[in-house]
Amino acid sequence: MRQKIVAGNWKMNCDLAEMEELLAGIKNNIGSVPNDVQLMVAPSFTNLHPAFESLRETNVKVVAQNMHQSESGAFTGEVSPSMLKSIGIETVIIGHSERRSIFNETDAVLAEKVSTALKHGMTVVFCFGEELKDRKADQHFEVVKQQLKEGLFHINDADWDKIILAYEPVWAIGTGETASPEQAQEMHAEIRKMITEEFSKEIADKVAILYGGSVKPANAQEIFAKEDVDGGLIGGASLKADDFLAIAKSY
Ligand code: G3P
Repeated sequence: MRQKIVAGNWKMNCDLAEMEELLAGIKNNIGSVPNDVQLMVAPSFTNLHPAFESLRETNVKVVAQNMHQSESGAFTGEVSPSMLKSIGIETVIIGHSERRSIFNETDAVLAEKVSTALKHGMTVVFCFGEELKDRKADQHFEVVKQQLKEGLFHINDADWDKIILAYEPVWAIGTGETASPEQAQEMHAEIRKMITEEFSKEIADKVAILYGGSVKPANAQEIFAKEDVDGGLIGGASLKADDFLAIAKSY
């Protein structure tokens, strides 16, 4: 049985007061979320420690949105895995499409980040997904395969226990253009096939694959009902406690 996960990627939103208000809303109604659904929130760096402390008595995981691939040094503005772990953060998102497109993070850099995170015993939420031009050219499977092979498939079999996958078609992120449940299922099933070929069916069947890209309370249930979808990585809708919990409850 795969883990069911609903994770909120807050991106560059919420100052400290707004974070406290959002977390209060989540904590006040968390009892309505099914026990087998793992909630995660990914605030900005400045909010990670306060969020960790605020959620200490819950089983909500606090996740970093990024980290640097080096242990320490002259990387102004960056944050290392040991810094994250020192404040209780054990899970990190790597490879979000905005890191790839806006901050030019290449597959090679992402592969280094994955290796460094795993070396520190962290769990990695590895993001990937095609652009609209790729899908229109019917190249979306090839693009996703390339992102996985170049950014993730260097890991060992044993590392997969620390991997959560997040398929986020770029054309669905922040656009309101959600992939259909069938499109999500088709890609998730294809990803399991890729992992089976490169690693094993056991690993492919066990890894949680989240869908991300305009998931809302109105469409979450149909997407999450698909056999190879194990939850969602939620952007905009995770910034409203009611919507975020409604998505989690729809599992
Ligand atoms: O990481 C999740 C994010 O990229 C999805 O954003 O606003 O389309 O739910 P959104």
